[in-house]
Amino acid sequence: MGRFIINGGNALNGEVSISGSKNSALPILASTILIKGVSVIENCPNISDVNKTIDILRILGCKVSFSNGKVVVDSKNANMFEVPSDISEKMRSSIIFMGALLGRFNEVITGYPGGCEIGERPIDFHIKAFEEMGVKFENSGCSIYGFGKNFKGANINLDFPSVGATENIMILASVSEGQTVIYNSAREPEIIDLQNFLNKAGADIKGAGTDTIYINGVKELKPVEYSVMSDRIEAGTFMCAVATTGGEVFLKNANATDMRQIILRISETGCIIKEYENGISVKKSGFIKPVNIIRTEPFPGFPTDMQPQMMSVLSLARGTSIIVENVFESRFKHILELSKMGADISFEGRTAVIKGVSSLNGSCVVCRDLRGGASLIVAGLSAKGETCVQNSVYVERGYENLDMKIRNLGGDIKLLK
Ligand code: UD1
Repeated sequence: MGRFIINGGNALNGEVSISGSKNSALPILASTILIKGVSVIENCPNISDVNKTIDILRILGCKVSFSNGKVVVDSKNANMFEVPSDISEKMRSSIIFMGALLGRFNEVITGYPGGCEIGERPIDFHIKAFEEMGVKFENSGCSIYGFGKNFKGANINLDFPSVGATENIMILASVSEGQTVIYNSAREPEIIDLQNFLNKAGADIKGAGTDTIYINGVKELKPVEYSVMSDRIEAGTFMCAVATTGGEVFLKNANATDMRQIILRISETGCIIKEYENGISVKKSGFIKPVNIIRTEPFPGFPTDMQPQMMSVLSLARGTSIIVENVFESRFKHILELSKMGADISFEGRTAVIKGVSSLNGSCVVCRDLRGGASLIVAGLSAKGETCVQNSVYVERGYENLDMKIRNLGGDIKLLK
């Protein structure tokens, strides 16, 4: 397992290009299974989750190339409907192949999804919605078999605005008979990106970005070229890094409309954030202010994917802040690691109390999940002395060339594989 070695204390200055969104690229790439021809998907980040998704596409019989952010998928001869369990167990988002494989082959076999250790992460919403559309399921040990034919549109009420369930339903419904309406759908920007992609391929979907999505099924989707939106969580992570180190960084391609709550909360810590047509600048000097209670919520609320990085910032504030994690039940594994660096954080259940300290100390810490790992890097960049962040593999799942991007801004970090 690799590790990041960071010598903290350098301010970050300059410009960084924000990559394409991981959470947008994954469902879009999975959807290409529905297209019996060549799809060209640009602005895909070169991260391990994207590479694993490409591996799955190849196993399913697609021809795939990936260079300079461009993924070319030829799904014409796709001929398999099984996502091997050794891959699905490693990557939660592999569940997104369910809708696409059912739409293409009327059948799917997949292992139960794995991913970050941030909570139970069941898939009951996906299964229930698919059953409402006519899919039958059989469980055999550690894998699920879904099958049927002539899947029909349905009125689906989600108990919670699940991002993955909303995407999976959109994908299958786009080629099912009649109309599907998703009530209480997720409103994340990545849902809009998926709608735009599917519509460009000939689907008929309206409402993404609101809590009700209408999908009128079409017979088939056509080859398409599409460019993935920029990664709002990567942009937010760089904002947090600047908040802790000081300096001034321009986040090229970052889209402020997708980041309102992130911008609001990081501004409250004392950063000056300016929005431009082609990006966002973030500037920090002086001390970090504590913030009023932050509650993670589905979009447009504060994203759970920014909670750990924000906690690193607040651990250096002049005062006490509170964070409530409402989306995942055990997304506080980074607290123990931040404490090793001298942070004063306590938590009970879903609530963390962060008493700011004047500085963090370099230490040997361990990534337990993707964004928790990013929070340790944010902390390490401002800590005194050397920080070793072990299990870099989690961070590499979701950040493209993070070490190189930080070095280009003046940070002292290297990735040892
Ligand atoms: C997606 C994102 C992830 C982000 C999360 C919440 C991708 C690839 N990942 O994950 O980065 O943290 O949204 O914004 O886009 N739930 C159920 N049953 C289900 C599905 C979900 O109970 O069938 C629960 C989950 O356990 C969790 C909550 O719903 O507590 C939200 O999960 P969901 O929005 O589905 O997250 P993901 O799509 O897995």
